[in-house]
Amino acid sequence: MHVSATFLPLDTLKTQCLIIPAFSSSKGYAFQYIDQKSNGSLSKAAKKLKNIAEANTCSLLTDINNVSAQRILILGLGKASDLNAKKYAAGIANAIKVAKAAGATEVSIAYGEDISFIKEAVISASETNYVFDECKSTKSLAKSLAKLRFVVNERKNVKAASKAADQGLAIANGMTLAKTLGNLPGNICTPSYLADAASDLARGKRKLKTTILSEAQMQKLGMGSLLSVSRGSRQPAKLIVMEYKGGKANQKPIALVGKGLTFDAGGISIKPGAGMDEMKYDMCGAASVFGAMQACVELELPINVVGVIPSSENLPDGDANKPGDIVTSMSGQTIEILNTDAEGRLILCDALTYTERFEPAAVIDIATLTGACIVALGDQASGLMANDDKLADELLEAGQSSGDRAWRLPIWDEYQTQLDSNFADMANIGGPKAGSITAACFLARYTKKFKWAHLDIAGTAWKQGAAKGATGRPVPLLMEFLMKRARVI
Ligand code: BES
Ligand code: MN
Ligand code: ZN
Repeated sequence: MHVSATFLPLDTLKTQCLIIPAFSSSKGYAFQYIDQKSNGSLSKAAKKLKNIAEANTCSLLTDINNVSAQRILILGLGKASDLNAKKYAAGIANAIKVAKAAGATEVSIAYGEDISFIKEAVISASETNYVFDECKSTKSLAKSLAKLRFVVNERKNVKAASKAADQGLAIANGMTLAKTLGNLPGNICTPSYLADAASDLARGKRKLKTTILSEAQMQKLGMGSLLSVSRGSRQPAKLIVMEYKGGKANQKPIALVGKGLTFDAGGISIKPGAGMDEMKYDMCGAASVFGAMQACVELELPINVVGVIPSSENLPDGDANKPGDIVTSMSGQTIEILNTDAEGRLILCDALTYTERFEPAAVIDIATLTGACIVALGDQASGLMANDDKLADELLEAGQSSGDRAWRLPIWDEYQTQLDSNFADMANIGGPKAGSITAACFLARYTKKFKWAHLDIAGTAWKQGAAKGATGRPVPLLMEFLMKRARVI
C-alpha cells in the first residue's frame, strides 16, 4: 500500500472514492464544501438517508454533480466530541471495506481542521488488506487497496499529514509482520525460523544488526533456566539479538525483550487438548519486537533500540523439565520448577539478565505470559506491571493515544512470598491467586538493575473464534512509546 498527503480543492480531486467524514452536530468542512460545489446534492442525500452522520454508517453516493471523484462515501462518525482514535479507526475500516467492495483500489480521505488520527486511518486501511494465505494451496484473489491519499484543507498541513501517514504505514507494516509470524504454524515457525527471519530483517540495513546465540553459547553464559525449557524439544533454542542504532553512539538503548515460545504444549505439565493449537501464538511477544524493529528501520527513528528474543519450544519429552526439578539461572538464582507450563518466565529471566550488558535506559518485556491476564482484562487491554512509575505512565499513555491500551496491575513486595520454595531460591509458580502478578513478581527478581516494565499480552495478541488470528498488538503501543522517546511526535 502506498500512502501520501496532498492539498487540492476537493471537487477537482480525481479519485476512485472520496471519503468524507460527517458529524451529527455540524456535518464538517469537507461535507459542506462538496455540498456547495454540487448544488446541495449531499444535503439532499442526507435528507433521504436520514442517519448519514450517525456513527458506524457508510453511505456510498455516485453521480454527484460537478465533482471529479468517481464515488463519494459519507462516513458517519456521530458526535464530534465523542470521537477517539479507536472509533475513528473502526469507521475508516468500514468505509474502506465498502469502497473496496464497490471496486475501488485507490481511496482518498478528506480532512478538515483536525488532522489527527491519520496514523489510525493508515493502520485500519492496511488491516483490511491483510490476508494470511501462506499455507493455502490457492491464494486469495481479493483485490487490495493500493493507494491511500489524505487530502488536507490547507497547504501548510501537508507536511504534518504526510509525516503521520508515513508513521502509520511503518506501524501497519510492523503489525503485518507481527501477524504473519504469529499466524505461521509451529512446525514452520520454529526458533531457527525466527532466527533466520531476524537475520533477513537486518540484511542490507546499515543501522540494524542481528546476532544469534546458539545453545552452546547460552550454555557458556550460564543460561540454565532457558536451556532447561528447550531440553525437552528437538528444535534448538535461539537467543536472537537485534540492535538498531538510529541515535547517538553514546545514547543508552531501549531494550525490548519478547517471549518467543514457538509452541507451548505445557511440557510434562501438559495442557488440555482443546484449543492447544493456539499455543503457536506463544511467540507473539517476539513477533511484536520484530514489528517494532522493522518500523524503527523504516522510519529511521533517531533512537537506539535493542530487541532480545529468547526462543524455544515447550514440549513433553524424556529429557524435558519435570515438576520439582531445580535449575540455576544466569543470574545465579535457583528456581524450583513446580509447573513446567510456567515456562515463559524461565526463558525470559535469562534473557533479561543478558540484557543488562546493553546498559539500557529502560527495558520492556512483552509476553503471552499468563491465562490469568485474560481472566483479568479480557482482550481489551494488555496487563502492565513495572518497577518504575514514570515508565509505566509513559506506556499507559502510549497505549491510550494509540488505541492499543494497557492497564496497570501492582507488583507489591507482599506478593513475593507466594513464590517461596522449600528447596530453591524461588518457585516458578505462585499458586492460584493473582497469577499475572506473581508471574511479573518472578521477573522482577531479574530486573532490579534497570527501569523495567512488563506487558502481558495473553489476551490482546490474537483473536479467537471465527476470526482467529494474530492482531499485531502491541506494535502500535510500542511504536507510540518509541516515537515519543525519539521526539518525533
Ligand atoms: N503461554 C501460556 C499463557 C497463556 C495461556 C497465554 C493461555 C494465552 C492463553 C503460559 O506459558 C502458561 O502456560 N502459563 C500458565 C502459568 C501457570 C502454570 C502458573 C497459565 O497461565 O496457565
Ligand atoms: Mn506455558
Ligand atoms: Zn507459554
